[in-house]
Amino acid sequence: MQIRFTNGPADSTASPEASASAPIVARIVDQDAVPADLEPVLAEAVKAARFTGKSGQLLEAFVTRGAGIERAVLVGAGEGSAKDRTLTLEKAGAALTAKYLTSGATSLTIDLQSAQLSATDTAAVLLGARLRGWRMDGYRTTLKPEQKVSLAQIVVRGAAEGAEAAWAVEAALAEGIEFTRELVTEPANVLYPESFVDRCRARFEGTGVEITVLDEPAMRALGMGALLGVSQGSVREARMLAMEWKGHLQSKGDGDADPVTTDKPTVFVGKGVTFDSGGISLKQPSGMEDMKWDMGGAGAVAGAMLALARRGAKAHVVGICGLVENMPDANAQRPGDVVTSMSGQTVEVINTDAEGRLVLCDALTWAQKTYAPARIIDLATLTGAIIAALADEYAGLFSNDDTLSEQLTAAGQSTGDRLWRFPMGPAYDKMVDSQIADMKNVGGRYGGSITAAQFILRFIDKGTPWAHLDIAGTVWADKAGATWEKGATGYGVRLLDRFVRDTLET
Ligand code: BES
Ligand code: MN
Ligand code: ZN
Repeated sequence: MQIRFTNGPADSTASPEASASAPIVARIVDQDAVPADLEPVLAEAVKAARFTGKSGQLLEAFVTRGAGIERAVLVGAGEGSAKDRTLTLEKAGAALTAKYLTSGATSLTIDLQSAQLSATDTAAVLLGARLRGWRMDGYRTTLKPEQKVSLAQIVVRGAAEGAEAAWAVEAALAEGIEFTRELVTEPANVLYPESFVDRCRARFEGTGVEITVLDEPAMRALGMGALLGVSQGSVREARMLAMEWKGHLQSKGDGDADPVTTDKPTVFVGKGVTFDSGGISLKQPSGMEDMKWDMGGAGAVAGAMLALARRGAKAHVVGICGLVENMPDANAQRPGDVVTSMSGQTVEVINTDAEGRLVLCDALTWAQKTYAPARIIDLATLTGAIIAALADEYAGLFSNDDTLSEQLTAAGQSTGDRLWRFPMGPAYDKMVDSQIADMKNVGGRYGGSITAAQFILRFIDKGTPWAHLDIAGTVWADKAGATWEKGATGYGVRLLDRFVRDTLET
């Protein structure tokens, strides 16, 4: 979707293709602040529809304006003083796209001339509009015209000074989220470790992000027996992908000519199981197709890196994706197998379906040895148990560091990618002790998300702040949300981007 800014009068904004039907002109309205200058028809419609300006509420009426007829739209922005103002503004923008995306209209105008929207508020409306308009219809060849996306551009008229620059930042974020959604949506016959890497190479071309890839011989040489054990039942070769953004080498601000070249990186690590059949501990057939998005953590990491690079974030960040396919096969690993991880610690594989932690542990060891990170955040669709606990409202947060936890929780609250922290401790840690090896990959019947986190913590160097985000419930949505169609949500990109903005770039 194109977003274009103009200060011209009403009739100059309609694009030629849109002028076939009445132009759509939308105004953003704060709750209980319906403008007094409405045409009588519109004022009557407001009353009849009980339009108050609640966040995302939408009202449409045809009115005569100038020489022609317009579709006048009012969209509710919620309370002007709301604490989650950005989110309610996004909802307003999203409501517009949801309504007109497949309506046949190709263009709509958001008229801000009488609204009191700041530059950042305007960018929030546009972010919501763009995110809600994303979908992937490439594999659908028989869509009827009325099912196809028609809306191609949004024209913003009379925006506050600086709105275009504010939008450029959010547009970078949108690009990252859309990339994540694309990766998450692709089926596993199309997206597997090698093709995931190929897509990233193509997408990061010219962004300044440095890409490093390890193939199976390289990982074998490094001793990544846990990750490779998961991969050995698949004909797809595993990959480790690293994307490094050295944004700290740019000047941090006006008076500061000295870039901090010694900044230790913040490292994001994503679980990238491109398909999780469960392996020999095969999953039930029902819903197994969902396991194409078991690479949602890796997808979020790739999207976040793209957003950071595109907006030129002034921070040193490395994104790492452990990419494997988990399949049953004559060569697949068996329950009871003992594997040696890159850290040297041994793992008894009780259940081959608890594969995510086996991938993460080697990715995390490699990340720490290679990049000596200041802090590590891993994202993984790790456990069904987190969905039982939190549904799709929050992702689970597990951490050895209160400061990092608070920063991430705050970033989640302000972006809508919300997090809820769980307890950890020695009693849970004991649950992954094994009879035969240093640990086993499942912890027993209860507390499954916590024991998974305890397992991962055993691979974190003492003193390194670490957070693990279990995003199994938030990567994929069964119904449309405020800023997404049903399907891939892009969860995690906004969270990581906001974390970088608020804690690394200040
Ligand atoms: N990828 C799954 C977790 C998952 C489940 C993600 C549902 C998204 C939706 C993970 O690899 C898995 O299979 N976990 C097992 C662990 C168990 C065997 C200890 C689970 O949660 O059942
Ligand atoms: Mn599994
Ligand atoms: Zn999995």
